[in-house]
Amino acid sequence: MSVSRDDLMAAARAAAEGAYAPYSKFLVGAALAFADGSVVSGANVENVSYGLSLCAETVAAGKAMSEGRRGGLVAVAVSGPKAHAITPCGRCRQVLVELAMLDGSDPLVWCDGPGGVREFRLSQLLPEAFSEL
Ligand code: THU
Repeated sequence: MSVSRDDLMAAARAAAEGAYAPYSKFLVGAALAFADGSVVSGANVENVSYGLSLCAETVAAGKAMSEGRRGGLVAVAVSGPKAHAITPCGRCRQVLVELAMLDGSDPLVWCDGPGGVREFRLSQLLPEAFSEL
């Protein structure tokens, strides 16, 4: 049984506290929920060479895959600064698809914002995603 929307968003918000974002000062957290009930979170990690910076979703997906996960992604939560409605950037959408496509799943993506949490399917955020599988 995977975690609830509220719990996953709480994990994303908590993860944002670990962000290393001295350049943008835009702290982002992401949390991935898996079918076995596990949660893997990440935060953005910037670099003085700005283009090398990593988004929170990419860090979380990298952690999950490097720990051996190859599917089972049920939901993703993303949270940024309080006043900001956030959605995953285009690059992160493709990174998340890499994990989802391994077992053909189409995870929910919960996006935090001042107006409340918005819900999407990953396939809505990146329709016709590139795949070689
Ligand atoms: N960022 C994320 O971590 N996730 C997103 O979906 C959008 C942007 C980060 C990248 C950069 O460190 C900062 O937010 C400002 O763009």
